[in-house]
Amino acid sequence: MIRREFLVRALSVAAASLFGRHALAQDAAHGMHDMSGMQGMSDMPGMPGMAQGRTPGAAALAAPDALPSGAPLAALRTLVNESREAGVFRATLVAQPAQHTLMPGHPTTFWQYGQAGDHPDTAAMQGQVVGPLIDVREGDTVEIRFVNRLPQASTIHWHGLPVPPDQDGNPSDPVAPGASRIYRFTLPPGSAGTYWYHPHPHMMSAEQVFRGLAGPIVVRAAVDPLAGWPERHLFFSDLKLASDGTIAPNDMMDWMNGREGQFVLVNGARRPLIVMAADERWRVWNACNARYLRLSLGKGRTFAQVGTDGGLLQQAREGLTELLLAPGERAELIVRSVGGTREPEGQPQSGESAQPDRSATSAQSARAILSAEVYDRRKMAMSHGSLPPDSAHPLADVQFEPRTPNAPGRAVAIPTTLREISPLGAPVSQKSVVFSERMDMAAMHRPGASRNGMPAGMTFMINGASFDPRRITLTSRRGEVERWSIENRTDMDHPFHLHGTQFQILEREQEGVVTPEPYLAWRDTVNVQPGETVRIATMQNQAGERMFHCHILEHEDLGMMGMLKVI
Ligand code: C2O
Ligand code: CU
Ligand code: CU
Repeated sequence: MIRREFLVRALSVAAASLFGRHALAQDAAHGMHDMSGMQGMSDMPGMPGMAQGRTPGAAALAAPDALPSGAPLAALRTLVNESREAGVFRATLVAQPAQHTLMPGHPTTFWQYGQAGDHPDTAAMQGQVVGPLIDVREGDTVEIRFVNRLPQASTIHWHGLPVPPDQDGNPSDPVAPGASRIYRFTLPPGSAGTYWYHPHPHMMSAEQVFRGLAGPIVVRAAVDPLAGWPERHLFFSDLKLASDGTIAPNDMMDWMNGREGQFVLVNGARRPLIVMAADERWRVWNACNARYLRLSLGKGRTFAQVGTDGGLLQQAREGLTELLLAPGERAELIVRSVGGTREPEGQPQSGESAQPDRSATSAQSARAILSAEVYDRRKMAMSHGSLPPDSAHPLADVQFEPRTPNAPGRAVAIPTTLREISPLGAPVSQKSVVFSERMDMAAMHRPGASRNGMPAGMTFMINGASFDPRRITLTSRRGEVERWSIENRTDMDHPFHLHGTQFQILEREQEGVVTPEPYLAWRDTVNVQPGETVRIATMQNQAGERMFHCHILEHEDLGMMGMLKVI
């Protein structure tokens, strides 16, 4: 099922030999690990570091263990509310360069969100690269002054939140370097959930995020059935560092497949230690540019999923051993402090009733590794075919230290109903979104053929066209339920994301087999596999322009984005 369009036309001699050599190297080495055939590319515009350190002059990457690990997981810092009025959250976010020393002896200049009064030299900015947590409630009016101290234009996009289109940091609303603006919106009832914010400037989102600009948002409900559970936040981001501590630029493979660095950070640190004294509610964010996180706590260790992007599920999904989190996605989990082995489910504990047999639990190791398991998102190679699957990547160590190790009979059951989710209802119109891609090898290798440091010749499209800020891709009427079908006609996974609202997955179709989504959930991001069609129900409530795109940010910047006009 090779549907990639490779327009190998009028190859130059250099490109032809490059293509040929690489095809050979791939047969021999089965993948991109042998980059010897790629050396000619280091001369290409916009492809620094192409040969991953093997080309003279290109920056070598730091070793995968060059960052220390094992420090206790840091809590996220919180954005301070400057308002004294009830129901108003007012704060300042400053985007600016800030230096952190993650690799001993080699400071890195990140781009980072800080608070009013933060200065790059102050301790506050030294603490964490992750932007401060915006912790707000349904009904709050949020007013955030954004100060852009970056050398580029930027915006803040409130990923997943139903904010007015002119407050949503669209690429058409840039804030110039040195300028500022206020974003203002009110969080409606029912919007409780786990969101995030990140820049969304035209063709520069990938770079601004990989340099460090992204932060978490939690919107709390007035009534939250899980309010009593200790909450833990794991904000996953990706980092690709050169051996001198600088943030490596994107190479051609990063543009083609989405950038994955050698490090995954959790709350800004590599492989931290999580010590669990009680059962916990985890909120997890995949803020990586392109890395898929197939989360697992290891063999036999289960957890429950209780929420998606847009808040709690109706019923917990118990007994999971893994959960795939595509770039941009979030989830809420319940992780048990004792073993996490399969237990009788859904039985509310009454009084002092003893838990059944705990012997299986005591035999369990008190440690686990939270890891991203092997996942094959069908990354492209430089010739026909795919790269091998991503290998497993440890994210954090977890140490279970329940406070009452010998009498754990009080495990609190997850409430049977977390909240009511009603189906959006019968759609009144249909929309079709088709992902496609085209690789023009000749254009890729033509000297001088790059724009904004992006390689030419790689085209990622929606409905047959790359993003054009002057063109409206689709039009919707506000208040109308629509059925969107999102079809992936490429050979690689792409996470679809829609701004301004949440949606419900109806069904997924693969090779003619239709699988209805087994549970109701609110999402704003959904992975679409090669050859798959995902059908969703969604509704926009405010008139204006909304974006929808692949959340592999390199693909988004390369044009896999469309504009929805809501009338
Ligand atoms: Cu998280 Cu349009 O983005
Ligand atoms: Cu978004
Ligand atoms: Cu994509």
